[in-house]
Amino acid sequence: MALIEPSQIIEALSTVLDPDLKKDLVTLGMISDVQIDEESNVSFTVELTTPACPLKEQIKQSCIEAVKSRVEGAGKIEVTMSSKVTSSCGHHHCNHDRPLKGVKNIIAVASGKGGVGKSTFAVNLAITLAKTGAKVGLIDADLYGPSIPTMFGLKDTKPEVADKNLIPLEKFGVQLMSIGFLIDPDTALIWRGPMASSAIKQFINEVEWKELDYLIFDLPPGTGDIQITLAQTVTLSGAVIVTTPQDVALADVSKAVSMFRKLNVPLLGVVENMSYYELPDGTRDYIFGHHGGEILAKAQGVAFLGSIPIDRGVREGGDSGTPYVLDHPDSATSVAIKHAAMEVARRVSIENAGHEERES
Ligand SMILES: Nc1ncnc2c1ncn2[C@@H]1O[C@H](COP(=O)(O)OP(=O)(O)OP(=O)(O)O)[C@@H](O)[C@H]1O
Ligand SMILES: [Mg+2]
Repeated sequence: MALIEPSQIIEALSTVLDPDLKKDLVTLGMISDVQIDEESNVSFTVELTTPACPLKEQIKQSCIEAVKSRVEGAGKIEVTMSSKVTSSCGHHHCNHDRPLKGVKNIIAVASGKGGVGKSTFAVNLAITLAKTGAKVGLIDADLYGPSIPTMFGLKDTKPEVADKNLIPLEKFGVQLMSIGFLIDPDTALIWRGPMASSAIKQFINEVEWKELDYLIFDLPPGTGDIQITLAQTVTLSGAVIVTTPQDVALADVSKAVSMFRKLNVPLLGVVENMSYYELPDGTRDYIFGHHGGEILAKAQGVAFLGSIPIDRGVREGGDSGTPYVLDHPDSATSVAIKHAAMEVARRVSIENAGHEERES
């Protein structure tokens, strides 16, 4: 039997395109550790740009197919899927003097309207990404109505201070910080704009995060001082807009989209929450209207990241301090949430690749 050379494997894999980044895996530097044993069994590693890649299985299968069909005599093919999260830094928008240096990507979860499920999505996004192996932090930037302490069951916990910096709390594999850990929320309610801005800056500058792949900011509703301060203080990888399908919520999405556009923040896409209620017989009741979020995303020229149904368990998970996707990992609602979360990670990778391209 003719011996197989690693170069043949590389050549075969150079025909496999990353569907998002539109280049082949070899050019993207994603292939390493190519090995061939005496029985012509082949193994290699594919390093993706996020462990939360929704296309992981598809890419793996394409690699196997490419080697099978192009390398004669190849035996068993073993593919190890690994990842190294890309960073929003290194492109011309990124100001290296800005804080949060050990953080590869900062994602804002925002909405035009209150009560649409930003905090719920931010929490379940953080947990989903952490579950895939990413290092994740979550900041509750809703100074006026912090909800992360309740949603993580940490209402009476206080963070430690070291060298005048706050040490984030850690639960369910996520590093956490919230104004709710520090002060009585009633005190924050009387803060005016400039006070809120300086509080958010302190929050960014004086928290000792460990290295993070993704830091998620759960924002208050609207387009006010906190959103603007955040966008001007850190380099955001992008913003996710959460909406419900009603017209009133959708009207406010456009405002949020134009604010982020003005602030030069990439829009990762729109998540529609409370999209429908699934009846026991499996039919869906579109209580607040049908596909509004998707139509709006198209009209605004931003990606649609997914629909999340109304589910009593989601509300209960928020109130009880155990995030829903942890308690019900395999339910249809969890599948929907995880899909939207992985789409967020995917859009971040695409944004980062675009920046690298513009750099070179
Ligand atoms: N898909 C869902 N199914 C059922 N209940 C939900 C769902 N999403 C959110 N909720 C509930 O709706 C309420 C509002 O959600 P949440 O606090 O996440 O919204 P928000 O946009 O962060 O609000 P705010 O603007 O006040 O910050 C909460 O009680 C939450 O548990
Ligand atoms: Mg909230």
